[in-house]
Amino acid sequence: CGIVGYIGPKSIESVLLVGLQKLEYRGYDSAGMAVLNGDELATRKAVGKIIELEKQLKNQPILGSAGIAHTRWATHGEPSMTNAHPHLSGHRDIAVVHNGIFENYAKLKAELIDDGHVFLSETDTEVAPHLMEKYVHEGFSTEEAFVRMLKRVEGQYAVAAISEKDSKKIYFARKGSPLIIAKGNNEYLIASDIPAVVPIAHEAIYLEEEQWGYISSSGVSIFTLGGEPVPPKWQPVAFKEEDVDKGDFEYLMLKEIYEQPDVFERILKERLDDTFIHFPELKFGKEYLARVGRILIQACGTSLNAGMIGRMYLEQFAHISAETDYSSEWRYRNPLASGDSLVVGISQSGETADTLAGLREAKAKFMRVLSFLNNINSTMARESDAMISLMAGPEIGVASTKAFTAQVLNLLFFSLYVGSIKWLMPAEERRTVLDEIRALPDKMRTILKSHERIKEIAEFLKDKNDTIFLGRTYNYPSALEGALKLKEISYIHASGYAGGEFKHGPLALVSQNVPVVIIAPQGEIRTKMISNLKEAQSRGGKIISIITEGDEEIKRESDFYVEIPPCQESISPLLVAVPLQLLAYYTAIARGCDVDRPRNLAKSVTVE
Ligand code: G6P
Repeated sequence: CGIVGYIGPKSIESVLLVGLQKLEYRGYDSAGMAVLNGDELATRKAVGKIIELEKQLKNQPILGSAGIAHTRWATHGEPSMTNAHPHLSGHRDIAVVHNGIFENYAKLKAELIDDGHVFLSETDTEVAPHLMEKYVHEGFSTEEAFVRMLKRVEGQYAVAAISEKDSKKIYFARKGSPLIIAKGNNEYLIASDIPAVVPIAHEAIYLEEEQWGYISSSGVSIFTLGGEPVPPKWQPVAFKEEDVDKGDFEYLMLKEIYEQPDVFERILKERLDDTFIHFPELKFGKEYLARVGRILIQACGTSLNAGMIGRMYLEQFAHISAETDYSSEWRYRNPLASGDSLVVGISQSGETADTLAGLREAKAKFMRVLSFLNNINSTMARESDAMISLMAGPEIGVASTKAFTAQVLNLLFFSLYVGSIKWLMPAEERRTVLDEIRALPDKMRTILKSHERIKEIAEFLKDKNDTIFLGRTYNYPSALEGALKLKEISYIHASGYAGGEFKHGPLALVSQNVPVVIIAPQGEIRTKMISNLKEAQSRGGKIISIITEGDEEIKRESDFYVEIPPCQESISPLLVAVPLQLLAYYTAIARGCDVDRPRNLAKSVTVE
């Protein structure tokens, strides 16, 4: 979910709407806002995307000088008008928006109902305005009521509240879900994430855990839950509007796909000089890294797929035994670790609840944690022992693209870096790999030019209900990621398998209507992939292959193909990713899907 709040001279409706649009990637089941005009509180809500709220505001404009707004990704209670935020107190004079979960809400709700409070929604959030109302009735100020409410709720939250009785302030607090305070010219904002404040703000504060406070038109006050004042730590807002806007592209996802060569150039410039790899932000010393004997990678979704490629790099280039698991499984399977184990978390947002829980589990077991993060101001950045910055720039499209390739590239660099500390690789071999990496941006640009061919494949794929993606070794995770991209945004069922496992089950699915994507760039496993191709073809399966330029043999056998420039097999996932992203994108477009807002999904999943 996304929260935005504003107090200042600009049109409240416009600032909140723009903020919500910028946060729409966090959820888009319903949206709403509550605004104080003098000491009168008014709300507007709509089911569906932000555009629905915008339509409603055209008919019923809302005026005021302070307000809070929310875009929801439903957890407790279906997307509906009554479940949409903001939620109000019984007298409709206090409004609250909330991300996260109040885990003890059922108990609190029962207690409040006993006290005579009437609830309208099925959400956990609604207990917050009612609790505040209860304390105000008991004689506490709005501020005291807000803090008392915070002390009663359990679970995790980013929360904001306004009240008719204290109409010049917006109260806020965080525990477990991110919240930013930002300032423009005589105006203050709060938001779940930086894109919402970029158009207005030049400085921001990343609120720490268990802090609360309020903004007014003249400033910000922050406190700990114990009541200690916290001096504001302003930081410049690093992003510009064009970083968070889709520009001339039809969708943010397409813009982010096309940004990849530039992202790679940026990472190369930062990480690589003639012969050395640099990780200036990495707090672990070389002696420690040389001693790491085992790496446990835990992540979710696309980030885990990147981690699976990273595992191969760690084994190949750093000679560290590595394993991967879903964060949500890893943390509950009582992982065993010896003294030389390092836990690696990978996350674009740095806020994914399962990955964060995995990180905390590791720390509780006295394991050290290294996180690969795109958002370096995130909760994971603060809680990890060391961090590597992905440097992909803000990624807003729900389906991850440039963060994925940046994860894989940084994992590759990290593996080579540890390998170099241990003097594992002959100089010549190392030079070849580094040259291959340097060539990646231009090779990606070449692939991006094949979009017309990929559109043709999308036309074929758009009427299918099922697809299978096959790859081996370095490109087995590519198959998983290609399938994930396709299902996320086009809603065509897709499964990725290791090519060797094809005949142990998935082959039963193949028919004329179940196409098979064969990832077969040049290298050791190419001939094995040809065997998979034949297995599928002889059962009537249509073949879409991803091959190295000029591979006439596979071209002849394929119904469709996309070529990538020649490269070492270990590097190929970084190129293979691009046509698979475009294939998912154009298939989704051909099916009329809203690529940046895939149904039921959200970019940053901050609940377990
Ligand atoms: C969500 C997003 C995915 C992402 C996953 C992990 O499911 O929709 O695109 O891969 O979360 O997110 P993270 O921010 O931890 O990389």
